[in-house]
Amino acid sequence: MPTTQKLSPEIHPLLRERWSTRLFDPGQEITEAELDRLLEAARWAPSAGNSQPWAFLVLKRGDEAHQKFVTTLSRGNSGWVPTAGVVLVSLHRVGDDEDPSLTFSDYAAYDLGQAVAHLTVQAESMGLHVHQFAGFDHDAVAAAFGVPASWAVTTGIAIGHYGSPEQVAAADPGLREREQKPRERKPVEEFVFGGKFGKPRQV
Ligand SMILES: Cc1cc2nc3c(=O)[nH]c(=O)nc-3n(C[C@H](O)[C@H](O)[C@H](O)COP(=O)(O)O)c2cc1C
Repeated sequence: MPTTQKLSPEIHPLLRERWSTRLFDPGQEITEAELDRLLEAARWAPSAGNSQPWAFLVLKRGDEAHQKFVTTLSRGNSGWVPTAGVVLVSLHRVGDDEDPSLTFSDYAAYDLGQAVAHLTVQAESMGLHVHQFAGFDHDAVAAAFGVPASWAVTTGIAIGHYGSPEQVAAADPGLREREQKPRERKPVEEFVFGGKFGKPRQV
């Protein structure tokens, strides 16, 4: 479990203690009831004009669809993603099926990210772990799962239970080392400005 760089000012423990694990328990499943709650959390995210321009493919470990998906993973992700109980593939809307010349809301990617953030915090509150990833063949996934051109395959979202202490101890040393790296972030001053972009806010 990694440490978090800066704990002050204090933030909610669900946000502070979240991290993107690569050490899922390959023996534990995500139940349908858990999935329902996670997707319900995503559903209630705000979006531009309440357009809700997101969609998810649900791929449960052991299913044929999941097996198909894992063949598209990048080398760096292929070792750990398949151990999570579920992978969601997130999509955001980029066009209209009826009229391909129409582009959809410019804020669709923003809205999807927000829906996934809701899901992530909900998962944390349920003792589950989430690791989002972009390292997979998006075009291959679009083709394999019949995604229409009006939707963009965006990320994978691995969801599962954290490995037992024995599983963690037995994990590949490289994976364990990456896992224990301290979590770091830019200082707030680097991205929060006052009246002019790039100028630190005076308090
Ligand atoms: C859009 C997106 C794409 C990401 N792609 C990958 C990926 O392909 N492989 C990976 O191991 N982690 C990936 N991550 C996880 C980030 O590396 C991770 O969130 C970041 O390093 C911060 O770590 P933390 O979530 O533990 O705080 C991705 C995260 C996001 C939001």
